[in-house]
Amino acid sequence: MTDLAHDEHAARLREELADRLENTGVLRSAPWRAALTAVPREVFVADGFFRRGDGPQGTVWTPALPDAEDPGAWLEEVYADETLVTQFDGGLYPGDVDGPVSGEPTSSSTLPGLVVRMLEDLDPEDGARVLEIGTGTGYSTALMSHRLGSDHVTSIEYDPAIAARARTAITAAGYTPRLIQGDGLQGDPEGAPYDHLIATCSVRTIPPAWLRQVKPGGTILTTVSGWLHGSGLVRLAVGENGTAEGHFLPGAVSFMIARPHAAPDLGDFSALLRQPADERPARHGRDVFRNWSQVFLAQLAAPGAQHLSTRVDGGPWLAHAIDVGSGSFATLTPDDGGDGYHVRQGGPARLWDDIEATIDVWEAAGSPPQTAFTVAATPAEQTVRLDIPTGPSWTLPT
Ligand SMILES: C[S@@+](CC[C@H](N)C(=O)[O-])C[C@H]1O[C@@H](n2cnc3c(N)ncnc32)[C@H](O)[C@@H]1O
Repeated sequence: MTDLAHDEHAARLREELADRLENTGVLRSAPWRAALTAVPREVFVADGFFRRGDGPQGTVWTPALPDAEDPGAWLEEVYADETLVTQFDGGLYPGDVDGPVSGEPTSSSTLPGLVVRMLEDLDPEDGARVLEIGTGTGYSTALMSHRLGSDHVTSIEYDPAIAARARTAITAAGYTPRLIQGDGLQGDPEGAPYDHLIATCSVRTIPPAWLRQVKPGGTILTTVSGWLHGSGLVRLAVGENGTAEGHFLPGAVSFMIARPHAAPDLGDFSALLRQPADERPARHGRDVFRNWSQVFLAQLAAPGAQHLSTRVDGGPWLAHAIDVGSGSFATLTPDDGGDGYHVRQGGPARLWDDIEATIDVWEAAGSPPQTAFTVAATPAEQTVRLDIPTGPSWTLPT
């Protein structure tokens, strides 16, 4: 394939991607269509990505490098509406390995459909200055630079090697936004105040620096997630004096958690599980951890808890919620031959009591969707509130 044919093929695939996203209602405006059809995604994954597959022990990721692939098929894959994982475990790249790997994805080019949806949700006006947290490959940074002008965009990436790769790609694509390597949770005091902030990594709580660095009347668009992997996309309207408030938006949106907000290593938790414990029938079982709404509620109720499953000698799978900070645990054991569970709870907190009580409140309110919850932030406290007259609320961790 000649360079010209390659570029024409890529341009056609960008138009087709834009058509698909328009047809599904994700792409809603001409300026973002212009950005999507102009920015070459292949430049941002020039070092390859990891292709997801199934192995005998579960998911595996195989390196995919452009030089080793059919150029046309490569472009087709780059313009699929898929996330392309570019780094594992904070330092492993596709060029580093010959065969499949498993581990924790730590950087990616987010699927274009989600990037565009968030940019439409952010809806920055002409002339707005935007701060992005989580440059990643730089693809979303380039889309914003195209739409707003490079001098209106600043992006912060935590990982030095990822930041360097993004700078190379963004420059190669012809954009010159301000790029910072550092902790985006601290924002950018030098460039503040910004009109809007968008995060493509998730946070457990809204960083106070963001509340100070976005102008009153501006917007913060971010996913709020946590250690049980509950997640939701929230758009906050920033008020005066470090306050902000806004609803969760529709859809099951999740991102890699900001690295400083990542869960602590559980270490050897066997002694913790051997503490004296109470046991009772559980009203909710392990499905809580697989249900988008319920795991979000569980996380509000037990923000310090992490979930994992264990199994001894071919016995039943046990589902645990473990809070190493407080030294508390809840273990769900399936009942013999039944659909139910028993729960053992030990340590100072009764994690499963708290989780079930929160699910009760939600069910009593008619099991509303996530859009019925509001995040409210002040410098003193951040809460998630269920928008019903009795309005129960939960405090986000600090
Ligand atoms: C899903 S990727 C970003 C995708 C990117 N916007 C794109 O279009 O390619 C999330 C990125 O957030 C970065 N990140 C995690 N914690 C961060 C933090 N505290 N500050 C800035 N970046 C962070 C990760 O290193 C990762 O590169």
